[in-house]
Amino acid sequence: MKLKDKVAIITGGGGGIGRATAVLFAKEGAQVVVSDINQESAQETVNLIKSEGGEAVSVVADMANHVDVEKLVSFTTETYGGLDIIFNNAGVGNQEVKLADLPVEEWDRVVDINLKGVFLGMKYAIPKMIERGGGAIINTSSLLGFKGKKYVSAYNASKGGVITLSKNAAVEYGTKNIRVNAVAPGVIDTDIIQNWKDDERKWPLISRACALGRIGQPEEVAKAVLFLASDDASYVTGTSLLVDGGGLTF
Ligand SMILES: NC(=O)c1ccc[n+]([C@@H]2O[C@H](COP(=O)([O-])OP(=O)(O)OC[C@H]3O[C@@H](n4cnc5c(N)ncnc54)[C@H](O)[C@@H]3O)[C@@H](O)[C@H]2O)c1
Repeated sequence: MKLKDKVAIITGGGGGIGRATAVLFAKEGAQVVVSDINQESAQETVNLIKSEGGEAVSVVADMANHVDVEKLVSFTTETYGGLDIIFNNAGVGNQEVKLADLPVEEWDRVVDINLKGVFLGMKYAIPKMIERGGGAIINTSSLLGFKGKKYVSAYNASKGGVITLSKNAAVEYGTKNIRVNAVAPGVIDTDIIQNWKDDERKWPLISRACALGRIGQPEEVAKAVLFLASDDASYVTGTSLLVDGGGLTF
């Protein structure tokens, strides 16, 4: 088992990539705090884990709200005695319009969840990891954090920010034995891309726009997150691991 007795928080754990990662972490021996803004879906993930004999608990937290995030971290350390891993994964897409037409409120909503949420997750987790003698942080960026794309300026900016913010944390806390990396998925089959799947004209193009010619599954991202979280990645920090089927290369 790669995460035996480790304590891990997974945000956005009620959805595709977060849920697949929570299930995999639990199989690898972690005690998992499944956090999401959606109580029901977080609890469904916990039920899945428990049905396979794993250990998990659900916590409702809005990652854009610093009070919620601080409570999430303190609940975790009170429940399991410490914190070893946080996967800052909660995220949302943006209303797809040209930059000048994007409402300011929509910019704030997306950047608050996708970028400030990652900042808050790290801000409250890092002191607990220092107390523990080290830890691993994985932040969810995106293929779109590396490139331009029409009509998704808030999303792309937030995901580009996650890459740089992860590097900052990596250089500030490396000597405290905390590794910080980003995972950058390409097109993965989850709820967040439902509007793309519903577009009969564009979907065949989007779904094949990578070297492998197919979309990815959440479990394929989860395996990369497990690598970054585990001691297999003991000398890996400050990097962004693309799990995009060769989407950036394409
Ligand atoms: N699916 C893809 O193609 C793809 C590609 C690149 C990056 N990503 C990123 O992967 C991450 C996970 O997304 P997914 O694809 O699993 O989609 P998803 O919609 O299935 O999961 C996202 C989860 O985040 C939760 N969430 C939304 N707002 C929240 C908030 N304010 N606080 C806490 N939780 C909140 C949702 O309830 C949901 O469970 C996101 O950061 C997303 O941007 C996804």
